[in-house]
Amino acid sequence: MFTFDEVQKQDPEVYKTLIGEMRRELEGVELIASENYVTPAVLQALGSHFTNKYSEGYPGRRYYAGQKFTDQVETIAIERAKALFGCDHANVQASSGAAANIAVYTAWMEIGDTILGMDLTHGGHLTHGAPVTHMAKFYNFVRYKMKDVETGEIDYEGLREVAKKEKPKIILAGFSAFPRTIDYAAIKSIADDVGAIAMADMAHIAGLIAAGVLRNPFDDGFEVFTTTTHKTLRGPRGALIMSKGTVGNPLKAPEKTIENLPTLIDRSIFPGLQGGPHMHQTAAIAVALGEAQKPEFKAYSQQILKNAKHMAQQFMEKGCKLVTNGTDNHLMVMDCVKSFGINGKQTEEIWEHININTSKSTIPDDENPPYKPSGVRIGTPAMTTRGMKEPEIEKLVDFMMKAIEIRNDDAALDTLKGEVQEFCCSYPVPAIDPAAWET
Ligand SMILES: Cc1ncc(COP(=O)(O)O)c(C=O)c1O
Repeated sequence: MFTFDEVQKQDPEVYKTLIGEMRRELEGVELIASENYVTPAVLQALGSHFTNKYSEGYPGRRYYAGQKFTDQVETIAIERAKALFGCDHANVQASSGAAANIAVYTAWMEIGDTILGMDLTHGGHLTHGAPVTHMAKFYNFVRYKMKDVETGEIDYEGLREVAKKEKPKIILAGFSAFPRTIDYAAIKSIADDVGAIAMADMAHIAGLIAAGVLRNPFDDGFEVFTTTTHKTLRGPRGALIMSKGTVGNPLKAPEKTIENLPTLIDRSIFPGLQGGPHMHQTAAIAVALGEAQKPEFKAYSQQILKNAKHMAQQFMEKGCKLVTNGTDNHLMVMDCVKSFGINGKQTEEIWEHININTSKSTIPDDENPPYKPSGVRIGTPAMTTRGMKEPEIEKLVDFMMKAIEIRNDDAALDTLKGEVQEFCCSYPVPAIDPAAWET
C-alpha cells in the first residue's frame, strides 16, 4: 500500500492534498486522453533517492562526481527506448514533451526557419507553433489540415503544395486531438522532395507504437521521433527524443547533418536547454519502458484501441457527432454543439459534476475560442489500465448520456455521481488503496 506517513507527521497541510488526489483518482472516471495511472514500481522509482543527485551531462561524461548508478539507470532507459522504438539514439533527459520539441527545433533550425505542422484546431499541439508560445516568436510555423473532416484524411496534396512554397526545414507529424491514422510514408516523401527532415511527435500514441499496435514512423524513414512518457506509455511525466544517426562527442558542435542528429539533439538538451536531468524521473522512465516490453503491455494496448472504438460506436449510435465519425486510436473528439446544443466547456463541466473527467477541445476550424470550444476530447488509456473492457465502456457512455439528459437537475446529477463513484471504485487504480485514508 502507498502511504505518506512521513508527510502526514511533518506536514498535515500537504498530506491532505496527497490523500485528496489519491481519493479523487480512485473515485472518478478518467477519460482525459493524455492521462494514465502509473504502476507502483514506476511510482517507487519516481520517489527514489535519484532525486538527490546532480548529473549534468550524459553517461560517462558528467560534470559532477558520484555517477556510478545514474550512468547505469540512464543507460538502461536509453537502451530500452532504442529497442522498443527501433532507433540508433535516444535522449531521455527532456523534462517534458514541450522541452523535447523545442530541443529538436533548436537542434536543427536557425531563427526564422520554417516548420510545417498540423493545424491546431485539426488536432495539432500547442508546441507545434501556437501563436501564444515562445517558439512562435522564433520560427515561422505554417500549417496543414485534414482534407475531409468526416473521414480524417489529411490533405497530403495541400501539404505538398505548402511545403514546396514555404520550404520548411522540418515537417512535423503528430497531434494531441486527431483520432485517425497518418500516412507517414506520404509525409516522408514530401519532406524528401523539399529537403526537410520528417519529425514525428507521437506524445499521445507512443505506447501504442511501442506495443506494435500502431505503425511506427521510423518504419517509414522518419528522422526524429519525440514523445512524452506519461500518456499511453504509462510512465512518469517526461519525454524521449529518438533519432537515427551516430552519437558523437557532445562536447564538440557538429555540422547540421542527418547523421549528426543524435549529437545535435543531445547538445540541444544539455547544455542548450536544460541543466541537471531529473534522474528520479529517468529511473521511473526506465521502469515504464521495461513494462512496455512485456507481453501484457501489448494486450493492454490492444484493449485501449478496442475500448475506444467501442465507445465511439456507442456514442454515435446514441446520436452524438464525432469528428471524423470514429477513431483509429485511443481518443475521439466529440462535437458537443452538434451533439447536445451546448459547447465543450459546458459538457466537460456536466461530466465533471458526476466525477467523469474529459477535456474540452477545439473541433476543426472551430468558430468558438479555445477556452470555450465546441468539442470535448475523450480517451480510453486510463480506464483500460483499471481493467475496463467493452461492457464497462457501455456503462460509462450510459452515465455520460444520462448526465446530459438531466443536466439542469443538480440533485439528480448528485445521485448519478454516487452511482458513478460506486461503479468505478470496484476497478482498482494501481498503487491506490482506500486503506490509505480510511485508517
Ligand atoms: C502532441 C503533444 N506534444 C507535446 C506535448 C507536450 O507535453 P508536456 O505537457 O509534457 O510538455 C503534448 C501534451 O499534451 C502533446 O499532446
